[in-house]
Amino acid sequence: MTNLPIIYRPRRLRLSSALRRMIRENHLSVNDLIYPVFVREGENHQEEILSMPGCYRYSLDLLLLEIKAAFDLGINAVALFPLIDENKKDNLGTESYNPDGLVQRTVKAIKETIPEIVVITDVALDPFSPYGHDGIVQDGEILNDETVEVLAKMALSQAEAGADLVAPSDMMDGRVGAIRQGLDQAGYINVGILAYSAKYASAYYGPFRDALESAPKFGDKKTYQMDSANGREAIKEVELDIIEGADMLMVKPALSYLDIIWRVKEKSNLPVVAYNVSGEYAMIKAAGRLGWIDEKKVILETLTSMKRAGADLILTYFAKEVALMLQ
Ligand code: PBG
Repeated sequence: MTNLPIIYRPRRLRLSSALRRMIRENHLSVNDLIYPVFVREGENHQEEILSMPGCYRYSLDLLLLEIKAAFDLGINAVALFPLIDENKKDNLGTESYNPDGLVQRTVKAIKETIPEIVVITDVALDPFSPYGHDGIVQDGEILNDETVEVLAKMALSQAEAGADLVAPSDMMDGRVGAIRQGLDQAGYINVGILAYSAKYASAYYGPFRDALESAPKFGDKKTYQMDSANGREAIKEVELDIIEGADMLMVKPALSYLDIIWRVKEKSNLPVVAYNVSGEYAMIKAAGRLGWIDEKKVILETLTSMKRAGADLILTYFAKEVALMLQ
């Protein structure tokens, strides 16, 4: 047959693997990855998290080995999340700024063992509160300003322990400004703030709450985390965090919020971070285990979609696996 009179044939540039590589617009690199890790008390503990196969709660001794392994694969940063003993929890989250607390001891140990790795600490009350909420509870409500005071203390004690970036994940109003001020007054001008700016009230956090036994004991987090139906509101949150002094902006979750990543990227020139959360991890792992998807390919496609949407960095439980695949 005679060829159709088509001038532009996009398929020309897909003809060979070399051509496809030449016109590839986005690349996933090990430099994009931040590895979230869970730490608990004790020694020689490594418990797999049921809903997050391949992820573990480590005691500090074994966590250091895990982080060293990640660093040797080229991963630049870890984000630390603690499992706090029930008897250390109180409504005011007092343990969160104990200079000898689990987080503080862990940060010090990481910095002593692998000084080059960037340590990011979580700033929120939920792991420290018997209620599992990100703020102080009074009559069933989550107090804002009282919580912000605790968050500033928590961030300061993490900076004192050696954290490079503190990452408020609580969604209280005004916390970025208060944390910045607290750090600066104490002389920690070089400790940065990775703000969870657009953090949604999401069912995708389920497995993470299993990992830290931190599910809210009553109600939900909808009075502080954002409504998943909203897009413009994310920009309002982002603009406030920029004014208050954020160094990086996070969108969380990532996969169902790629449009938000895109909007934030358009709006600001700060690095944009996507949090590929626990539920996103669990879905891929589950389908992979059932043999219903090609797990490795789906992981790479998923993370690349976040890059395409505009993420500069991705927090992901797949970090080590991906670093290996990219080698
Ligand atoms: C809490 C916090 C949560 C996550 C990170 N920090 C859970 C929540 O807001 O309830 C979720 C991370 C994940 O699901 O991977 N401050």
